[in-house]
Amino acid sequence: MTQQTPYHEDQETDNNTSNNTHFDDILGQYITRRDLIKKTASGTIALALAATVTGCASSQSTAKQGQRSSHLPTAKRPEKLTFQPVAKNKLDLITVPEGYQVNVLYSLGDSIHPNYGAWDDNNIPSGPSFQFRSGDCHDGIHFFGLNKKTKRLDDTFSEEGLLVMNHEYINPTFLHAKGPTSVNGHRPEDEVIRENNAHGVSVIHVKKNEITQHVEMIKNSVFNRRITTYTPMDFSGAAAGSPLLVTPYSPKALKTRGTHNNCGNGYTPWGTYLTTEENFIGYFQRSSTDDAKRQPHDIAALKRYGLKAGSSSKYEWDTAIGQIEPQEHYDRWKANVTADSASQDYRNGPNTFGWMVEIDPFDIKHNPVKRTSLGRFAHEDSACRAVEGMPLAFYMGDDSRGEYIYKFVSQAKWDAKDANAGYKAGDKYMDKGTLYVAKFNQDGSGQWIELSYGKNGLDQSNKIYPFSNQADVVTFARMAADSVGATKMDRPEWCTINPENGEIYVTLTNNSNRGKDYPTDAANPRNYQDLYADKKTQKGNVNGHVIRFKEQDDKTNALQFQWDIYLFGAEASMNANINLSGLTDNNDFSSPDGMWFDSRGILWLQTDDSAYTDVTNCMMLAALPGYIGDGTVATTSNGQQTRVGAKVTDDNLRRFLVGPVEAEITGITMTPDNKAIFVNIQHPGEESASYDKPNSHWPASQSTANSSARPRSATVVITRKDGGRIAGN
Ligand code: FEO
Ligand code: CA
Ligand code: CA
Ligand code: CA
Repeated sequence: MTQQTPYHEDQETDNNTSNNTHFDDILGQYITRRDLIKKTASGTIALALAATVTGCASSQSTAKQGQRSSHLPTAKRPEKLTFQPVAKNKLDLITVPEGYQVNVLYSLGDSIHPNYGAWDDNNIPSGPSFQFRSGDCHDGIHFFGLNKKTKRLDDTFSEEGLLVMNHEYINPTFLHAKGPTSVNGHRPEDEVIRENNAHGVSVIHVKKNEITQHVEMIKNSVFNRRITTYTPMDFSGAAAGSPLLVTPYSPKALKTRGTHNNCGNGYTPWGTYLTTEENFIGYFQRSSTDDAKRQPHDIAALKRYGLKAGSSSKYEWDTAIGQIEPQEHYDRWKANVTADSASQDYRNGPNTFGWMVEIDPFDIKHNPVKRTSLGRFAHEDSACRAVEGMPLAFYMGDDSRGEYIYKFVSQAKWDAKDANAGYKAGDKYMDKGTLYVAKFNQDGSGQWIELSYGKNGLDQSNKIYPFSNQADVVTFARMAADSVGATKMDRPEWCTINPENGEIYVTLTNNSNRGKDYPTDAANPRNYQDLYADKKTQKGNVNGHVIRFKEQDDKTNALQFQWDIYLFGAEASMNANINLSGLTDNNDFSSPDGMWFDSRGILWLQTDDSAYTDVTNCMMLAALPGYIGDGTVATTSNGQQTRVGAKVTDDNLRRFLVGPVEAEITGITMTPDNKAIFVNIQHPGEESASYDKPNSHWPASQSTANSSARPRSATVVITRKDGGRIAGN
């Protein structure tokens, strides 16, 4: 048996070589959800109820400027931040300001069904049981208030709700009893099933005590479910039915199985959850002889998405021998031409991932839907701007070095009557519309360039890819964007919209290659050096930044925008032409990633860092941003002119939380009353050499000193001891 190298998320590759500028636990087989519900009397009733109310509970919402229509009397944005800033630290704990408390709600392996027992470090549950347990590497998350009568969304409800969250990937070292193993080149099937089930999405039903604000999971709720790499899904939109999506599973290219590498998230104004498929490509194997069986444009597309011939799959699911599951469940990770047609092999497997996936947490009857019109790339996050009477705009990042920022504009204009219409609203607003990619100009202006078949050179004569229809354009959106001269960005991560003024914020986490393969430009202006632990030299855009833009005339379908850089990550002690936002010890940070405006207009910023971790663990900050143009033109240490927002102060940017050892802070949501904030802690102790030598013991270390427990990714809920609003007055 051999131990495999753990996979680290931060493996964003440089694929953009375009030259534009820029159960009981021992159950031996799966039990379907339907079977399970039949066996659970209360569940049967709940399922029937949920099915009958789907789509009927139209709320009286009125759309507002931000991401969610709501009739909630939203609290005002505070004038300034008053909590005590948390000091940088390397403790194996979550540290929060005085007066706040942290509770661990939902950790790797926790059961979501009464038939399944608690997690036990010394008796790791079976692979199949993870269909009813928390997945690993918690990421994007959203709270949907649950109206107890209608069983649908009501975002005035804080006492009960559905928490929906991503499980981005896995830390195999701690997922299995003795880390990941392989026998004669084959991964053991139970491990592979556990790994498949530990990916995807969780929906958990939670309730909050109105007095104490204590939050707990309702374990026997029919809404609790896992969506994994096995879950059947539908294709909808521009690429549905395309030859590019044909597989043996769905020769008509209308269905597929599973979602994985779900990173950032989004949510719609009609109460559904959006999960993204980010670093999906690494899950596929491709043999070294496969190029000889493919067309040149097909090979170019595989290369552009990072799957060269000879690539092995990072978890080697393709090596498992099917004894519990059909062999086909493992063969589907081999993206090779081995048969006469695409309906007989999995050559198109990679094309079935990289999409934006819609999940209606209240609808347990219908399949999730891959909304292909929004393009295929390393989707990180999305933010939807809904203004009554205007088309909807979805802003999205493609997180790899030198990739792009995209916008999808719906053909239909937003009608608040659709506020609880489920997948039907998704069909209306996400299937028909126009995809754009962003170009940032030196002077602070920018353009949205349309990615539609037959426009801007996107046709069969295109030299990068011979596009024949819109299905080709969306499936190979990166190549379409290459050919229209989009701006190569420093790894676009999360997007969010300021509810006060409709400005759109995007985190650009870092780019070690900026200034080398990617020349600096005004929107990605920094290339500098920094020392890590006084030893290793770090280069490029070491600490990342946050860009923001405002659409012309404030229209969601504008083709022009204005931009500036709201915030530059830096160490407080760096020179002023690197620390351009004037960060101090109370708010300095590196590698912004998760980011979200709450309903009051407080911006929450989370880090996924490896550049400043010699000094501090990853963190979350709260901010009260200004607006585009509140700053100046500035020149960076490398002589690049840029546009920077007003310098921050301790009153409008403060560190709220520091996480445990080797953990990323990612994923954030709140109850509508702003009294409970949910945050995900991903991969504590990820650098550990072996399962029996953990570098972190979190979450056990949060309550027990001298714990020897395994580290586990988890959702925490933070509340005020006095029951007040988070970061409120
Ligand atoms: Fe999964 Fe781009 O962070
Ligand atoms: Ca440093
Ligand atoms: Ca991320
Ligand atoms: Ca990241």
